[in-house]
Amino acid sequence: MKTISKITIGLAAAAAAILFVGCSDSATPAKEVSKPAPTISEESLGLRKTNLYTEKGTTGDKTSYATSYAGSGNKIKRAFQDAPPMIPHDTQGMLPITINDNQCVGCHMPEVATGVGATAIPGSHFTDFRPAVAMNSKGNMTINGAVLENTSNETLKDISIKSTGDKLAGARFNCTQCHAPQSDSPAPKNTFEADYTSKDGANSSSWSGTKLMEGIDTVHGK
Ligand code: HEC
Ligand code: HEC
Repeated sequence: MKTISKITIGLAAAAAAILFVGCSDSATPAKEVSKPAPTISEESLGLRKTNLYTEKGTTGDKTSYATSYAGSGNKIKRAFQDAPPMIPHDTQGMLPITINDNQCVGCHMPEVATGVGATAIPGSHFTDFRPAVAMNSKGNMTINGAVLENTSNETLKDISIKSTGDKLAGARFNCTQCHAPQSDSPAPKNTFEADYTSKDGANSSSWSGTKLMEGIDTVHGK
């Protein structure tokens, strides 16, 4: 046993010596490999085009929201069919929206919108898409009156599309959750070209009627 291990150690030492010789500079001097000059500078890689290792000299573009007053006729094309339109006018003094102060509805509710030249809040915002969820006396969760067996088993009967009449649906009260002002800045521009499915898709919404259920397959729980 002892001799074998001595031989093994000896062999390992010899191998290491050979390796050392093979790698050492004195055996075969490595050829000088010339590095190609960088064709793309690191500074040009990021969007901000500044040194990537420091924040020095990095300043964001100034946000510049529309300053045209509501009613000046300024509008922004919709990003795609039935996209929530961007707010094209000044919102100074209108935000934040609070339970007691929502100036948006003051001009955009259908009954006043035409009078002030504003786009009327569409029918989808006077629709409640939330099913009635409750707890029955046995402590079971019910959806639209039926006991819910499995929370991940959504079917068509769990879908609920109820008109809220002329009362804005609660889920739509906080307009700026979905509608935002657009800042015009030198940031890279969006070159996406929308392919509107309706003729006036760039300026108006068509999401109503049978469209509300289009593409929804809840029958199979998908
Ligand atoms: C003083 C009335 C007034 C108030 C208040 C107001 N708007 Fe407007 N809004 C308008 C008018 C008028 C237009 C049409 C463009 C224009 O002439 O400025 C418009 C346009 C819009 C549009 C674009 C609609 C389209 O067809 O592209 C959106 C979105 C919008 N407003 C959202 C809001 C939100 C959100 C608020 C609250 C923060 C608000 N507005 C407050 C009058 C108003
Ligand atoms: C949960 C998101 C959400 C909220 C909250 C919301 N909207 Fe919208 N809004 C949308 C979407 C999405 C569309 C486009 C599809 C449609 O018509 O429903 C839209 C469309 C609109 C349009 C264009 C209608 C047309 O006929 O072209 C106006 C005006 C508008 N909303 C105003 C408002 C105002 C004012 C509020 C607040 C009282 C509000 N929205 C709250 C998502 C929202």
